[in-house]
Amino acid sequence: MSEKKGTILSGMRPTGKLHMGNMFGALDNWVKLQDEYDCFFCVVDWHALTTSYEETGNIKDSINEMVLDWLSCGIDPEKAVIFKQSDVKAHAELHLLLSMLTPLSWLERIPTYKEQLKQIEGRNLATYGFLGYPLLQAADILLYKANAVPVGEDQAPHIEFTREIARRVNYLYGQTIFPEPATILNEYKIVPGLDNRKMSKSYDNVIEISIHPEEIPGRVRMMITDPGRIRKNDPGNPEICSIFAFHRIFNPPGLGNIEVSCRGGEIGCVECKKDLSSWIQKYLEPVYSKRRELEKDPQKIRHILEEGKKKAEKVAEGTMEEIRSAMGLG
Ligand code: TRP
Ligand code: SF4
Repeated sequence: MSEKKGTILSGMRPTGKLHMGNMFGALDNWVKLQDEYDCFFCVVDWHALTTSYEETGNIKDSINEMVLDWLSCGIDPEKAVIFKQSDVKAHAELHLLLSMLTPLSWLERIPTYKEQLKQIEGRNLATYGFLGYPLLQAADILLYKANAVPVGEDQAPHIEFTREIARRVNYLYGQTIFPEPATILNEYKIVPGLDNRKMSKSYDNVIEISIHPEEIPGRVRMMITDPGRIRKNDPGNPEICSIFAFHRIFNPPGLGNIEVSCRGGEIGCVECKKDLSSWIQKYLEPVYSKRRELEKDPQKIRHILEEGKKKAEKVAEGTMEEIRSAMGLG
């Protein structure tokens, strides 16, 4: 297809507006990879249903908001295929075919399954769809014969599982249909939330990517610093301060100075926060204006997803022909 290094697929569940944890956990990596690989970026709306099948009212809006965030951060429909999982029915067909040869025990032993069953309370997740979540993910990846998948560390077991499925298919049908996809781990960056826990929608401690730049200082003021610092000249400990963790992302050249003057009690937290706010503003201003621009054309996202659907379907259909015939169908 091109002189690219290979094919990449990654996906995100449509959870609505993205936050800076998503930006530095995944999106910035996608933006870089789209120049080096043939990239497929998938809005995995069926996956969203595995946990929120009882409240489905927001899915459409969430998809729109999420794709707007992708584009405003630099995901480019000219470079990457941007599409919706439920638009390409082959994901469901491949999932079904793979389900025939997937031992239940492989699914049951995946650590994310056991953990989430415990964590997500108040919902019945003893469902068929939830157990099969990683297999649907494997189908997403294998359908495009992806060579690599960029994900956060928490998803690594799912990619490992995908490799096992690929090996099993290739072994059972005596031909190399699927490459075994490598895991590309996102560069490890801790993005703390406003309350110093991990930034996450469920903790209500996020800064959204689409935030108006003028609102940034207000959010930053809410962030927790070293609680041991009461007066401006008390020596501080940047290691336990979320402002410092953010400086690490937005202002790497300034880090050394801040560390020294914080430990020496020479800089106050108010000043340190102001400084950080202007770094974040500088970073997010172009993202904000791009989003504004995109919002002017409400049909834009629909068009992009339609184009993406066509391109994705074409590749998917090629793979389906191979796997159907390998399995004695078609
Ligand atoms: N399970 C992933 C997550 O929760 C989302 C996902 C679905 C995905 N299909 C994928 C990620 C395929 C990478 C490749 O983040
Ligand atoms: Fe954190 Fe900066 Fe205050 Fe130090 S001076 S505790 S790094 S906000």
